[in-house]
Amino acid sequence: MDIISIHNYTMDIIQEAAERIRKSFSQKVEIETKADANDLVTNIDKETEMFLIEKIKQYDTNHRILGEEGMSHENISNLDGVVWIVDPIDGTTNFIRQQRNFTISIGIYENGVGKLGYIYDIVRDELFYGIEGQGAYINNVRMNRLEKLPLNEALIGINASWAVKNKRINSERVGELIRYVRGTRSYGSATIECMLVATGKLDAYMSMRLSPWDIAAAAVIAKEVGAEFTTLKGEPINLLHQDTFIIANASIRQEIIEQYVELLPVEIK
Ligand code: IPD
Ligand code: CA
Ligand code: CA
Ligand code: CA
Repeated sequence: MDIISIHNYTMDIIQEAAERIRKSFSQKVEIETKADANDLVTNIDKETEMFLIEKIKQYDTNHRILGEEGMSHENISNLDGVVWIVDPIDGTTNFIRQQRNFTISIGIYENGVGKLGYIYDIVRDELFYGIEGQGAYINNVRMNRLEKLPLNEALIGINASWAVKNKRINSERVGELIRYVRGTRSYGSATIECMLVATGKLDAYMSMRLSPWDIAAAAVIAKEVGAEFTTLKGEPINLLHQDTFIIANASIRQEIIEQYVELLPVEIK
């Protein structure tokens, strides 16, 4: 895999995709629902994914693509060879409601190893990228490795629904965590929350369910600054299935999982 060539190519196509999304701001966007009434997708999500797929296939027809909207119609059941994991818009609800707080996310894996990761916050014009073993950058400026901090000084990204009675996690323990840390935040875009952790603006972010395209790019970038990411059971992430997820400053991830996360057995219907 020619890292420099793919990197230059991806930097170009992500800018082109961003320009198309910017243009959509002045147009009427078509909104549809997917799994439920709160699971939204727009024609711009689909068109952006289609655009990226065409560009990736132009680069190399052997590269495979796993995208949220399934526009490549490929059945990806393993990560053999080169696989691009694409979220055309991460934070679709924010895109629709706020026209901000969303990103384009592209992770590039070779035989399951994260090689390159790109997250572009178009409205803030912040393009994060990471190259395996060569560091992480924001708008071409090298990102620093994270410094340690104690949990009681941490800002945690967490969804408010965790603190109320929840079938999948002991919400009382979550409440203890919320009271113990310095503060909590919620942004509605997993990639933005991961990049806030990677830049030390947030110290942890966790979710009960994320998909490969929510975390593939972030994982490559986060690794380069020493942020840790696992499932909430402390296991390595798997980029073929949905799972729980935590990304955190290395000094607090284990403490959060061990002291405050109690996953409940999921009911089988
Ligand atoms: C969603 C966002 C959101 C997270 C959801 C994701 P989408 O991605 O990242 O913050 O809580 O789990 O599905 O659907 O907007 O790409
Ligand atoms: Ca979605
Ligand atoms: Ca997403
Ligand atoms: Ca999406």
